[in-house]
Amino acid sequence: MIVRLDQALILGLVLFTTQGLAANCSTISITSESGAKTLRETCRVITGDLTLGPFPQTASSIYINLDGIETITGNLNHDSGIDISDVGVTEVPFTVSSLTLKEVGGSVTFDESIDVSGLQNFTMPNLATVLRSFSMGLGAANFTYLDITSLEYVSQLTIGGTNLATLRHTKLSHATGLWVYDNSLDSIDSLFNNPLNLTSGADIYGLPNVKNVTVGFRSASRLYVSSNLTVILGGSSATNMSLGAVQLFNLTGLQRSSHLNILTADSVDIRPGNGISQIDVPFDDLRELSVREEAYNSEMELRLPAKAVNWTGGFKLNIDWSPQLNFSSIYGLDNQGNRVQNWFWPTNVSSISIYNAIIANSFLYAQSKSPSAFHMERTVRFC
Ligand SMILES: *[C@@H]1O[C@H](CO)[C@@H](O)[C@H](O)[C@H]1NC(C)=O
Ligand SMILES: *[C@@H]1O[C@H](CO)[C@@H](O)[C@H](O)[C@H]1NC(C)=O
Ligand SMILES: *[C@@H]1O[C@H](CO)[C@@H](O)[C@H](O)[C@H]1NC(C)=O
Ligand SMILES: *[C@@H]1O[C@H](CO)[C@@H](O)[C@H](O)[C@H]1NC(C)=O
Ligand SMILES: *[C@@H]1O[C@H](CO)[C@@H](O)[C@H](O)[C@H]1NC(C)=O
Ligand SMILES: *[C@@H]1O[C@H](CO)[C@@H](O)[C@H](O)[C@H]1NC(C)=O
Ligand SMILES: *[C@@H]1O[C@H](CO)[C@@H](O)[C@H](O)[C@H]1NC(C)=O
Ligand SMILES: *[C@@H]1O[C@H](CO)[C@@H](O)[C@H](O)[C@H]1NC(C)=O
Ligand SMILES: *[C@@H]1O[C@H](CO)[C@@H](O)[C@H](O)[C@H]1NC(C)=O
Ligand SMILES: *[C@@H]1O[C@H](CO)[C@@H](O)[C@H](O)[C@H]1NC(C)=O
Ligand SMILES: *[C@@H]1O[C@H](CO)[C@@H](O)[C@H](O)[C@H]1NC(C)=O
Repeated sequence: MIVRLDQALILGLVLFTTQGLAANCSTISITSESGAKTLRETCRVITGDLTLGPFPQTASSIYINLDGIETITGNLNHDSGIDISDVGVTEVPFTVSSLTLKEVGGSVTFDESIDVSGLQNFTMPNLATVLRSFSMGLGAANFTYLDITSLEYVSQLTIGGTNLATLRHTKLSHATGLWVYDNSLDSIDSLFNNPLNLTSGADIYGLPNVKNVTVGFRSASRLYVSSNLTVILGGSSATNMSLGAVQLFNLTGLQRSSHLNILTADSVDIRPGNGISQIDVPFDDLRELSVREEAYNSEMELRLPAKAVNWTGGFKLNIDWSPQLNFSSIYGLDNQGNRVQNWFWPTNVSSISIYNAIIANSFLYAQSKSPSAFHMERTVRFC
């Protein structure tokens, strides 16, 4: 009995050691659940890259459990193995989960250029740091669930997936760029309501379920929004915000938070969505404002605040194809029907270009100084 037990123990030890040798804790590809099991039981640290896939097309689904791995010094990648020429082929559905992974020294990339990825669920609630980019869900039509609860430090972050409906995430303390593509989330404030310095800028495209986004950056070289939502400038912590080029398309509203002390932008380009009746341009300093109503046919009022008299950088106004914008007067009516001034010309205007809008001379003559450059084409005059 005792001898057999010893033999079993020795056999077990040999098996374990063999397994340990078989699993290489440096750059490695995992193509099956059992491969993941060997890896997670052997490696706490992966020195190099970990690539998941290609998975066997014969499997009905794959569950990659990486519990046990704490650090990947290189990249965590996905390889679907599917080429753009493999028309109609899609990957098997798969989930990736690790309750232990905390740090990735390179990038995390689960994106495809075409809609073939089988990614359904990415759950890494303790992943706190990704030193390079985190890019998840593009080309993954069945991706619905993303848990990155603890992810605070990342260089650049990209999230997509038209059916992505759940994002578990708390806040970011470092990022240089944020890109959010078409998805089904109802809030992206855990990403955008943070006092970040986004030297690479931030983009938002097509979020049908997001009604408003709170932008809490300290600074961003660019803010691009193309989505039917209201942008609230000013988050819970930043008191000053400095933006470079701002482009707001399909906008339903633009608000400034009362938390914001100073708000500046180099240029703002607004192409509002249908149904927006009024836009207050809420900046303490702005160099250039462009508006184009494009295909929209509802009447809209554009207002420049009293503080615009202090925009001293040589303001440029470009109004392009906005037949519903009425620049007949610097006065309008407030909510109570009282006559109020709702357009304040900046003191230093360097150019005005108005193409196809309603305009009257008295609106332009209300400037204290005449512009050094003046350009008006095919203006529709009503007065
Ligand atoms: C582990 O992987 C590295 C890099 O791919 C390779 O150089 C090394 O020989 C591998 N070691 C074993 C035991 O397979
Ligand atoms: C998504 O799921 C549907 C139905 O479950 C399936 O037909 C389709 O192939 C999946 N797409 C991908 C890219 O996995
Ligand atoms: C995603 O996977 C995690 C971990 O396995 C699980 O807790 C969660 O319920 C899954 N979510 C969905 C929507 O399947
Ligand atoms: C952003 O930049 C400001 C000013 O340079 C600095 O005080 C702040 O700590 C920076 N914030 C982050 C999150 O890097
Ligand atoms: C933003 O939208 C959410 C619902 O999606 C709502 O609860 C909240 O009051 C809105 N915030 C503002 C400032 O409009
Ligand atoms: C955009 O949102 C407004 C207000 O919520 C709504 O009336 C309009 O139909 C939406 N447009 C699109 C294209 O979703
Ligand atoms: C905000 O900007 C003002 C004016 O430029 C400056 O005096 C103040 O220190 C800034 N506050 C913060 C928190 O950066
Ligand atoms: C957003 O606006 C662009 C033009 O500014 C337009 O082509 C596009 O159809 C709009 N998208 C939605 C969803 O309204
Ligand atoms: C313009 O700037 C001056 C000097 O900083 C300040 O006193 C004045 O209140 C500002 N005007 C407005 C309307 O903000
Ligand atoms: C007006 O703006 C121009 C930049 O376009 C600048 O060079 C000039 O100094 C400004 N003038 C005043 C009086 O601020
Ligand atoms: C434009 O606004 C003026 C008042 O500021 C008004 O008298 C005029 O009827 C408006 N024009 C159009 C076409 O709405």
